[in-house]
Amino acid sequence: MLTEEPIVIGRKKKDVQRYGYRGTAYIGRVVLGKGEALALGRPVLLDISESHVILVLGKRGYGKSYTLGVILEEFDRLPFSVRGRLSVVNVDTAGVFWSSKFPNKEDEELLKQWGLTPRGMQNLLLYVPKKVLDHYRKAGIPVDGAFLLNPAELSLEEWLWLLKLNLDHPAGSLLAEIYEEKGEIEDIDALIASLGDDEVSRTLKARLKIVKGWEIFDPSAPSVKEYLKPGKIVNIDVSTFRGDRRLPSIVVSLIGRRLFEERMLAKKGEDAALLRGESPSSMPIVWMVVDEAHLFAPRNDDPPSREVLRIWAKVGRQPGLGMILATQQPSDLDDGIITQADVFISHRLTSKLDLDALAKIKPTYIPEALDKEISRLGHEKGLAIVLDDVTERILLIKVRPRMSLHAGSSASALRTSYL
Ligand SMILES: Nc1ncnc2c1ncn2[C@@H]1O[C@H](COP(=O)(O)OP(=O)(O)O)[C@@H](O)[C@H]1O
Ligand SMILES: [Mg+2]
Repeated sequence: MLTEEPIVIGRKKKDVQRYGYRGTAYIGRVVLGKGEALALGRPVLLDISESHVILVLGKRGYGKSYTLGVILEEFDRLPFSVRGRLSVVNVDTAGVFWSSKFPNKEDEELLKQWGLTPRGMQNLLLYVPKKVLDHYRKAGIPVDGAFLLNPAELSLEEWLWLLKLNLDHPAGSLLAEIYEEKGEIEDIDALIASLGDDEVSRTLKARLKIVKGWEIFDPSAPSVKEYLKPGKIVNIDVSTFRGDRRLPSIVVSLIGRRLFEERMLAKKGEDAALLRGESPSSMPIVWMVVDEAHLFAPRNDDPPSREVLRIWAKVGRQPGLGMILATQQPSDLDDGIITQADVFISHRLTSKLDLDALAKIKPTYIPEALDKEISRLGHEKGLAIVLDDVTERILLIKVRPRMSLHAGSSASALRTSYL
């Protein structure tokens, strides 16, 4: 129940007049008053019908992942007329979003105060690595399928990075030769079988075997773009790759690259259709949601995902690619991405380094004064400063409670069950 007039962020006034509140996400309420007690004011809606680069920031434990969950819930409950024209992929680094299929009954009373009721996500598809599929199913987690990648989709650069090789390395240049000749690596097994027994080949073989052992590459796997469906939120659980830090980056790089190509082509067709007076394609907007974004686009390293995320941030708007990135270390995140962000949702940031990193790149951002404001409110979770470049507004908000179950709370010896 939104009895007061909402504030819409990320949407120009004239578009609010035109479209009203359709295609927005109810993320929270404005915090009023300066005293100890927290009073809540107007509802805050975030535009998710157009592509944006949204950065969710804040110290560990202050609500970044929770806020991502709130936004995902809002995608989930958009009317189909809007949702069906969007597609969302969530890169689940902590493996916590499966619980969103269940209603958050624990907070029923609290939700009521917000005019909401517990509700599990209806349009969430959970994909996990094949290796853990049975384990998850046995644990009662409603998984929708295994996530496999087709080796033929990887670029040479992605292979080299994955195998910790480069062109100066003899095994790297051997791989490059093979790749150049065939134009792809179709099948890891076949490649291993085709290699000789000299030292360089043996090095390459050994590394390929490690990658094969991850059971993620399969020549019969569909293209990554097949995982995305109109109106669905696809959750890719990369948490169990933690030991193989390079793999999540490849997942982001592949999804980002393939969808970019796809959307660039589709956009041309849509523009042509519009010129002919026909209606455009059914899925014009793709959102990618990435938690722990500094791992994928670090300032001081160069995984393949970094370049892809930079491109999305820089030129994604035109083909309809939006991003929501969360990080506790903006000072470790690629500058090019921060510069392109048009909406910031900043939970507590206390490190001077991080505040300075933002202030330098976004001179409009004056976080210190606002951060003090937040500190005064104590350790209350879910408070955030919202900075909106589109409407040039700064707000202090409280993020609303989750309607679906949030599995990301800290481990507790007292808690025995989520469900
Ligand atoms: N808006 C909120 N309302 C209520 N509780 C929240 C809110 N945001 C966060 N929390 C609580 O704080 C905990 C930590 O939040 P989380 O999003 O996991 O932090 P982060 O990702 O920033 O490390 C959550 O498990 C939840 O219990
Ligand atoms: Mg988190």
